[in-house]
Formats: sequence, C-alpha cells, structure tokens
Amino acid sequence: MTRAKRKLEHIQYALTTGQKRRSGFDDIAFVHQSLPELSMSDIHLNTTIGELSLSSPIFINAMTGGGGENTKEINQKLAVSAREANVAIAVGSQMAAIKDKSERSTYEIVRKENPNGVIFANLGSEATVAQAEMAVEMVEADALQIHLNVVQELTMPEGDRDFKGALDRIQHIASALPIPVFVKETGFGISQETAIKLASAGAAGIDVGGFGGTNFAEIENERRQRKLHYFNDWGIPTAAAIVEASRTNSQLSILGSGGIQHAGDIVKALALGADAAGMAGFILKVLTDEGEEGLIKELNFIQEDMKMLMCSLGAANIPSLQKASMIISGNTYHWLSQRGFN
Ligand code: FNR
Repeated sequence: MTRAKRKLEHIQYALTTGQKRRSGFDDIAFVHQSLPELSMSDIHLNTTIGELSLSSPIFINAMTGGGGENTKEINQKLAVSAREANVAIAVGSQMAAIKDKSERSTYEIVRKENPNGVIFANLGSEATVAQAEMAVEMVEADALQIHLNVVQELTMPEGDRDFKGALDRIQHIASALPIPVFVKETGFGISQETAIKLASAGAAGIDVGGFGGTNFAEIENERRQRKLHYFNDWGIPTAAAIVEASRTNSQLSILGSGGIQHAGDIVKALALGADAAGMAGFILKVLTDEGEEGLIKELNFIQEDMKMLMCSLGAANIPSLQKASMIISGNTYHWLSQRGFN
C-alpha cells in the first residue's frame, strides 16, 4: 500500500473511531467560585511554551502528512482556520516530503496561507539532525514536534520494528536546533518516567498525546487481518498523562492533548498542569462536517467559552487557572493515587 493511500485511510478511520470520551476529563469537577471579582474583559488566554509566546493556548495538532493533493487541500483549510482564529498549528509528519520533493507543497502551503502564525514542524523519532533542519526550513517553523508512536507502528503491519536510539537522536536534534523541540505521543500518553528522560535530552516541552481520543491502535486494527485487540485499550488517559508529564522537576512546558473536544476539556487540561492544549481528531471532524468557516467559528467559540469558564473560577489568566481547585474521581483518581501523585 502506498504511503498516500495509508494516510487517507487514517483520515477516514479517525473520523469514525476518534471521539469516545475516554481521556479522563469527565472525572474532573471544578470547585465553583461565586465571587470571582473579575470582569470578562480582564481575562486573558495568552501562554508560553518553550520560549514561544502564544496569544491563545489552543493549537491544531499534527495531522495529514503526505497524502498528495487531498491532504494539501486539508492542510490549506487548517492553515487558514489557524490564521483566522489566531491559534498555532502543527503540520503532519514531513518525512514524506523529505523522501519525495514533490510532496513539499503539501506542507509549504501552511506557511504560505499563514505567513505570521506560529507553526510547528513534525517528524518521527527516526529523524536525523539534517532531516529535522529540512523539516523546519520547509515551513519556517517556530518549533519542531518529534512524535513517538511505538504502539501505532507495532499495530501497523508494515510498521517499524526497531525503536533503538530514539532518545539519542532527540538529544542531538534538540541541541542542534535554534528553536524549541516538543516531543509528542500520538494517543498513548507520556509517563513520568519517559518525561524525565525527555527533559534530560533537552526537550523544551512534552505534548502528552494521551489515550481517549483518536486511537491509532483501533485505526490500524481496522486495516489488518489478524487483530491486535489488546492494544485497543492501551495507553495513559490524557488527564492522568498531563499530571504524569508535569512531575519532572524541570522547566518542561506541558502540552495537553488526546481526546480534547471542547473548552471544558481544555480548561481542565490547563488546570491539571498543561500550558497549552492541542486538538487533532475533533478539528478534522469539524472541518469535514462544517467546512473552513465552521471550523473558524468553532475555534472562536472555544476561546470565548474558555473565558466564561475561567470567569466562573475567578481565574484571570492561565497561571491562575493552573491553581484552580478541583475534585478528581473515578479512574483518574485511582490512576493518580496509585502512581503517588497527590
Ligand atoms: C494524526 N496524528 C499525527 N501526529 C503526528 O505527530 N504526526 C502525524 O503525521 C500525525 N498524523 C495524524 C493523522 C490523523 C488523521 C490524525 C487524526 C492524527 C496524531 C495527532 O497529532 C494526535 O496526537 C492524536 O490524534 C491524539 O489527539 P486527538 O486526535 O485525540 O485530538
């Protein structure tokens, strides 16, 4: 099967399997504050990740790497939506364009449509320093995402089987690039143990890419004859992964993602310790159902809704939201207490 066909199948399956709400956000309840002493106009959404200042903590997460004209059109619409809603955007894996120059325009369109926006380049952990530099140059990136996706590769019949040397390569890339490197999962979550290793390798941030939203084990299982069912429920749910990754005693920025569908999820991700929140599958679904105009509206509504939620918590900014009181129940409570995170 060609890479382009596989990528298009990913998009189709992501739309049907992605949105089951198993990320743990429904286990979190905020303690309401009746005297916020705030006006809505006092509330600001700006945040910092690595050394990047963002006017909004929301970003469109990596999708659509290397699928020819179809994915180029999706990338163009995502780039315009990011520009209009003033949110950052990550492109999908650029390895396709590093191996085949005719694919470059699929990614370059994102910078062309969004000349002043914050854009993240994206490659897997098999990348070399030279490939990372090419990916950054291709979209004039403000940061590089390096994705880790062992379970997806294992579930993919034609996937990689050798995962040695990834941390060393990440370390070389992080020390060679002049921009922040964010290491991300793709729906299986990042543990405290992994986050500590990534911090010492020089990652500026971790995108936890938690379990509970788009599920690449299910997607790949749909595509294979002999199913690896045991991977369908595998992974650290996003709410727990945010806490795991933020306990490293380092300056790591935390990007919360995996199954985020609305402002309520984003505000919970930030309150659990994230500095920004990414959405992939939900964005793709809105774009498919409601088009570019619909996506821009949705992204603007989400930012308005976040301000209302923050007002109800008496939080005028993200650092104050990160101190909000909450009650954690269910699986997330059990996960965090058994891991010793109180
Ligand atoms: C992805 N994702 C992804 N991640 C990455 O780092 N590089 C990539 O090329 C892709 N490609 C991709 C394609 C499609 C169609 C989807 C839906 C997703 C993973 C994505 O960035 C994110 O980590 C996961 O999808 C979990 O977040 P959501 O979808 O639950 O918000």
